[in-house]
Amino acid sequence: MAVYLDNNATTLIDENVLQAMLPYMAQVAGNPSSVHRFGRLQKDAIEQARESVAKLVGARAEQVVFTSGGTESNNLLLNGFSQRTAEQNTYGRIAVSAIEHMSVLEPAKHLWLAVDAIAADENGSITIRAVEKAMTEQTALISVMAANNETGVIQELSPLVEYAHQHNCFFHTDASQAAGKIALNFADSGVHAMTLSAHKLYGPVGAGALVIDKHLPLAKIQYGGAQEKNLRAGTENVPAIVGFGKAAELALADLQARKMHVLALRQALEKGLKNIGGVTIFAEKADRLPNTVQFGVEGFDGETLLMQLDRKAIAVSSGSACTSGKSEPSHVLKAMQVPDALANSAIRVSFGKNNTMSDVDTLLSALRDIIEINQHSPVMMASNV
Ligand SMILES: Cc1ncc(COP(=O)(O)O)c(C=O)c1O
Repeated sequence: MAVYLDNNATTLIDENVLQAMLPYMAQVAGNPSSVHRFGRLQKDAIEQARESVAKLVGARAEQVVFTSGGTESNNLLLNGFSQRTAEQNTYGRIAVSAIEHMSVLEPAKHLWLAVDAIAADENGSITIRAVEKAMTEQTALISVMAANNETGVIQELSPLVEYAHQHNCFFHTDASQAAGKIALNFADSGVHAMTLSAHKLYGPVGAGALVIDKHLPLAKIQYGGAQEKNLRAGTENVPAIVGFGKAAELALADLQARKMHVLALRQALEKGLKNIGGVTIFAEKADRLPNTVQFGVEGFDGETLLMQLDRKAIAVSSGSACTSGKSEPSHVLKAMQVPDALANSAIRVSFGKNNTMSDVDTLLSALRDIIEINQHSPVMMASNV
């Protein structure tokens, strides 16, 4: 039996989510913009999903803009903010944490916004000091993720958000990994924008949301129809949105149970890892997502380790799934000052609700085998690959 331990990359769609989506794929026709009953049915389904997604993150339904996923939400936020503030002549700099996902870092880099990096500390945390250092008089937006996809480190956002408010600055958080894993409250948090992605919480790929406060300046970035409050042109992906709504509803109902389940697996894995020589757990001391462990194995190459585990039918990631095609050390570990050799040996394990204790045992015994065999034959060691 194959063991899937890469739930931060994507989760298997929940059976109840799939069942909720199917009628909208094969039985109910209609474009949500059409005025007839078929259209209205689709529109109602979207609005119901909007309520569920809003409820998951403590927001109001009218604050939820559906997109195709976390990447689009981050692009809409950064691009839309730069366009609107330029129109209003309030265009300034943005401060972005060094450990953000590429879907924040890349649009920030390619837009004409001036970007200042906010440094992470060695625990993968973004401190108020680091934000202060990155701030300039012109900083108009700060973007710091709620939880990191590689290390799982959860940021303490409230002092950073308070600082942003004091400095008349907008605040965005990418909560793609946090949503469904830890409690979130958009209203209480004071953030002006929050990114969500459905396929990280047992929903379908191809649905996400940008939750926005009405004071945030935001222009649309694609032109066409007036869907999604005129912020996201294009016929809505109703089945995916319905699936996102159902996934959000289930995530909220099961939040505590899911959290305890994956945390027990994570703790068992970490205990086992500590008995294997040369293993370092990254950001071990930091508050982390209950399902995520990233570790390095001294002298090994992460990609090679990943392939060895894959041969044993165990799926993990060697860092962020989206960047694992590259062999450079992860930018997140680099930002945490992890030495290149250790960062290159990184493996990320991310548990999901379908994993069991036997998956932990399978992984630990595979790791022991691989590491022991290779410690006796240096073929796998980092210096040789
Ligand atoms: C923190 C974070 N933000 C954004 C994304 C992108 O989300 P999507 O795959 O829905 O575009 C990911 C996906 O890995 C992520 O981990």
